[in-house]
Amino acid sequence: MNRVDYLRISLIDRCNFRCQYCMPEGAELDYILRQELLTHEEIITLLKEVFIPLGFSKFRLTGGEPLLRPGIVDLVQDIASLSATEDLSMTTNGFLLSSLAADLYKAGLKRINISLDSLNPDTFKTIIGHKKKDLWQHTWQGIQTAYDVGFDPLKLNIVVIPGVNESEIEALAELSIDKNWHIRFIEFMPIGNAELFSDRTWVPSEEIRDKIRQKWGFIESNIKGNGPADVFKIPGAKGTLGFISQMSECFCDNCNRMRLSADGWLRPCLLNETGQIDLKDLLRKGTKTREIREKVAHLLAIKPDINYQERDSGNDTVIYNRTMSQIGG
Ligand code: GTP
Ligand code: 5AD
Ligand code: SF4
Repeated sequence: MNRVDYLRISLIDRCNFRCQYCMPEGAELDYILRQELLTHEEIITLLKEVFIPLGFSKFRLTGGEPLLRPGIVDLVQDIASLSATEDLSMTTNGFLLSSLAADLYKAGLKRINISLDSLNPDTFKTIIGHKKKDLWQHTWQGIQTAYDVGFDPLKLNIVVIPGVNESEIEALAELSIDKNWHIRFIEFMPIGNAELFSDRTWVPSEEIRDKIRQKWGFIESNIKGNGPADVFKIPGAKGTLGFISQMSECFCDNCNRMRLSADGWLRPCLLNETGQIDLKDLLRKGTKTREIREKVAHLLAIKPDINYQERDSGNDTVIYNRTMSQIGG
């Protein structure tokens, strides 16, 4: 059984983008009310008194878009300064990084994963579904700024969408050559808006790797990563290529993580909420943190039996109708 020591903390369910596969314009989402969000203090209390004593030491901040959370830099600073924090990272759409990257880095954030589904500003706009001007240019600037202030390496996430950005696979892979950038191709999961672009909903990682092999002849494999990605490399490249293949392969047996939603639900799996605990309710009722810790320890103990493998079993605790922005990615 894998050690579970990684907590993904969603800070907010809102986003300044409207990725069509995640929270399309017009979709009626019930946003979490401000007073229902875990507060800064509640997050720190949970980390100090519940998660760290249970062995958690890796924390990733997610959303929605985590940079929309008021006080984000202070929160990063407070989590980074906990002595048990070994790894503090963030997954963001990058749009606000040109103004925030330097402060985040100074506050102690060390790793950042940024979504960049296309190198073509028009395709990007189609996917992001937003009317803002210079959307791609701004995001690209955010990526460059993050790299320049010291996020080295940084990871770029690409959800591969059939017929939309498939033709850019080689160009995106090429970004790993000159800089220490980790380019990760993600199989689209049928969460939220699955059949939006075509009947074929996802592209198998092996097909993506074939395209890359055709261009570079060979890609080196068996490079060790620390998450769900299988890591490869174009010979001589400074960075790597990662493949997150949750549709064609199941990596649940190696799962090392739990997820805390912005309104305080602790869930054992991205797609399965069996046994989930409302930590905010417990905290606000005044439950002793020792008791909360015992409940979380129980969920950790039963976690190996709760995973995405159940997705085809008809188990109705497996969630398909929530968007990634609500779960925290
Ligand atoms: P690293 O710590 O840098 O390895 O991060 P990561 O790859 O785990 O995190 P990121 O937020 O960049 O996620 C990239 C993709 O992996 C997203 O599409 C996630 O939804 C997916 N992913 C992350 N964790 C899980 C998981 O536990 N199960 C599944 N099925 N997908 C996951
Ligand atoms: N399938 C796979 N990845 C997704 N993401 C958002 N929605 C999906 C989906 N349905 C990705 C984002 C981001 C990460 C947190 O999750 O692009 O990189
Ligand atoms: Fe926002 Fe990320 Fe969802 Fe896109 S995938 S809408 S950037 S939360």
